[in-house]
Amino acid sequence: MAAMFDSQSTPTVELKEGLPPGLPWPALVQTLFWVFRPVQMLRIARKRYGDTFSAHLLGLGRIVMTADPEEIRRVFAAPADRLHAGEANMVLSPIVGQHSVLVLDEERHMRQRKLLLPPFHGERMRAWVDEMESITDEAIDTWPRGEAFKLRDQTQAITMDIILRVVFGITDHARRREFRDRMNALEPNIWFRKFALAPLIQKIPRMERRMFDDFRRAKADFDALMLEELNDRRAQPDAAERGDVLSLLLQAADDEGAPMTDDELRDELVTLVVAGHETTATALAWTFELMLRRPEVWERVREEAEAGESAYVDAVIKESLRMRPILPLVARVIKEPIEIAGYRLRPGNTVTPSIYLSHYREANYPDAESFIPERFIEGQPEGSTWLPFGGGIRRCIGASFALYEMRVVIQTIARRTDIRLTRDVEEPIVRRAITFAPGNDVPVAIDNVKPARTREPAPAMGSS
Ligand code: HEM
Repeated sequence: MAAMFDSQSTPTVELKEGLPPGLPWPALVQTLFWVFRPVQMLRIARKRYGDTFSAHLLGLGRIVMTADPEEIRRVFAAPADRLHAGEANMVLSPIVGQHSVLVLDEERHMRQRKLLLPPFHGERMRAWVDEMESITDEAIDTWPRGEAFKLRDQTQAITMDIILRVVFGITDHARRREFRDRMNALEPNIWFRKFALAPLIQKIPRMERRMFDDFRRAKADFDALMLEELNDRRAQPDAAERGDVLSLLLQAADDEGAPMTDDELRDELVTLVVAGHETTATALAWTFELMLRRPEVWERVREEAEAGESAYVDAVIKESLRMRPILPLVARVIKEPIEIAGYRLRPGNTVTPSIYLSHYREANYPDAESFIPERFIEGQPEGSTWLPFGGGIRRCIGASFALYEMRVVIQTIARRTDIRLTRDVEEPIVRRAITFAPGNDVPVAIDNVKPARTREPAPAMGSS
């Protein structure tokens, strides 16, 4: 049973073979729970087995989940050839493409990541604040008065527009509409579910064609539009001065001086839309749901927005991402044995830091079931206990972008509207593709809207 093990650290601890204990339910029952009642399943397992346990999910095999900060640190610090996140994300590859940073590992992943990171550096965000605010203003002006509407749909329209304008740099309305329509036809939420069934369906070619032909057409349409945009942009005389992410990526080169190929650019841009718009939209909807149920919190957010400050709203956003993380876990496929919680885990298994359970661990967050933004007012949250953006060499590239965007959108809505929830009961957490989303899309209403504030004309994106 016990074995001495040459782990990545000191080879002196006696380790157990096999996997940590887990729920004794058949794999089908665990999978159904994971799909339909994921929060309950996580909580039951934690109650029975503590921070680290295993689960057996159809399609994913045996996975080890952990909320122990020590183990999470070990996962995030592991070298790229020991744990593969790209392999664990492979279900996304039909949408994001084979060159996407999300589905690559080791050197190929690092090349893409290094090329993508500079445009998302925290300092750059300031140049985009005006764009983000004016997109939010335009959206608010279209909202109905005195009638309930689903806030998540509206935040999703805002975050899509922000990506198209700030990341893709598309200023023309009609062109943006074209991109939006083609992207919506790809609707990742619907396709993820189908892709999960793909291994079964591939065995029946006629059914496979029926199920995926629409997708292939939509993906080809989107790719064609993307390549057209890349060619147009290269031909534009001001390409080098523009500050949008696409323009910066067009000029980027790797350590050997090689630029990104068109296929790489296309896949990374699709990745930024897929990874960046629905996640941020859902995070915004959850933040409003949590904030608006607490009038004292909302009042303070509004006062602060009027005063032009942001320390409190930033803490509210962090606390919302703690209580309602958008992704419940991040996964790593084990390529070389690794020690987790006293077990020697073997290649082929998957280890997953549990974002959800870390965020509700009393030792990490006393009174974890309560919404207390004040816990984030001072200092940065700890990287092995607050993990809405994952961690290590795979940490979300758009984390600063998303936090900035959320601040701007919330403060703009706070300054201009008297938004209120229209449902008395709290939103349930439901699965939406791979995310945890509010079950009713957060119905809200507004009665009064103040005019948008006049801003200095926004500087050209490249000028700051
Ligand atoms: C609130 C909004 C967001 C949340 C909660 C979120 C969360 C995450 C998580 C959990 C990961 C996986 C990290 C890991 O495996 O350790 C990730 C990866 C990633 N995210 Fe985000 N994200 C958000 C917004 C964005 C935005 C706005 C962008 C870009 C526009 C973006 C781009 C990416 C990319 C490119 C990766 C892949 C990184 C890699 O594999 O190296 N995300 N995100």
